[in-house]
Amino acid sequence: MTVTNKPVNNTIQPHGGTLINRQVEGAEREQLIQEAQNFPAITLNPWSLSDLELISIGGFSPLEGFMGEADYTEVVENVHLSNGLVWSIPITLPVDEAQANELNIGDRVALYGEDNHLYGVLDLEEKYTYDKEKEAKLVYGTTDVDHPGVKKVYEKGSVYLAGPVHLVDRPKHDEFVDFHLDPVETRQLFSDLGWKTVVGFQTRNPVHRAHEYIQKAALESVDGLLLNPLVGETKSDDIPAAVRMESYQAILKHYYPADRTRLVIYPAAMRYAGPREAILHATVRKNYGCTHFIVGRDHAGVGDYYGTYEAQELISQYEAELGIHILKFEHAFYCKKCENMATAKTCPHDASDHLHLSGTKVREKLRNGESLPKEFSRPEVAEVLIRGLQEK
Ligand code: ADX
Repeated sequence: MTVTNKPVNNTIQPHGGTLINRQVEGAEREQLIQEAQNFPAITLNPWSLSDLELISIGGFSPLEGFMGEADYTEVVENVHLSNGLVWSIPITLPVDEAQANELNIGDRVALYGEDNHLYGVLDLEEKYTYDKEKEAKLVYGTTDVDHPGVKKVYEKGSVYLAGPVHLVDRPKHDEFVDFHLDPVETRQLFSDLGWKTVVGFQTRNPVHRAHEYIQKAALESVDGLLLNPLVGETKSDDIPAAVRMESYQAILKHYYPADRTRLVIYPAAMRYAGPREAILHATVRKNYGCTHFIVGRDHAGVGDYYGTYEAQELISQYEAELGIHILKFEHAFYCKKCENMATAKTCPHDASDHLHLSGTKVREKLRNGESLPKEFSRPEVAEVLIRGLQEK
């Protein structure tokens, strides 16, 4: 049923050793689309659709489908799959009880998007209920419904469907078509470019000066940078992906060596799960072929739910098992005396000389119609953001 990816010459193995491909092609695909008309059907929200895509293209290798109860429990409680591989965030398919009752184990379930398009099929092997409070507490570290990830946990259906999936059509990323590469393709790309070491960078924000500083510090010791912004579902006050994508192109064009950087979308939903999500982000970038991954201050955090270096502390516990090098950076700021970006490790001056910047601050300034100082943002980036947000 599934197509095997051609092995490529890349120095890092996918998580679990095999790059998963659950895409169905050619005559098999045509047949499955036909058959799916008679399957019971469910509609996936954008979050679940992006999970389906990431499983199917190998971003979530070694997962071949939505997690069953044994994996789910082990991930939530012990940050591992039941086969012993480190994994930090449950990848599950929630439905409400009434829907679950209409489905039987052994069913093949047609998976539609909210646009009524058939994207895939699930071989239903399990359905199980779960403890939302426990998931919130252990995965997100809080049961506070003001946390955007926890809010989603409480809003979603109370039954998880599980089993292997088959992807018949890709969710469209028309706006980003030039930057849409799958893990098998980025691996090939790195190999073609002769990059033996590649640092992956996750962001859901425009690239500000602190991001640039830590990316370039990393670039001093690896062959290439994969700027891999998350473009799936984010909370409503984050800057839209289309505007961000334009801003990434602007900063790369003006400030980065073209032969040592590549921009590729990461089509996932943002969980805001801080430390646990940092581990997922690193795992996925390993599947994309990165040998290194950056974790800076409050990675994937939101509000004050996580400590500044909590993500670094947690991922350090699993770094050896993960098999990807984690490059940890302290909180970077602009120092007026150094006239440069710095961290506490590199700057001797007083905090009063330091300008702290973050995605939140950049967003606040943009919302208030304030200009972005050059210590915060490159002018070419600021220009794209101000124009892009006005147009939106
Ligand atoms: S997120 O996806 O992790 O939420 P964000 O844009 O906030 O995206 O951060 C991207 C990466 O840059 C993360 O690894 C984060 O820890 C790091 N980072 C962001 N701001 C800073 C900063 N001022 N100093 C050091 N690291 C930072």
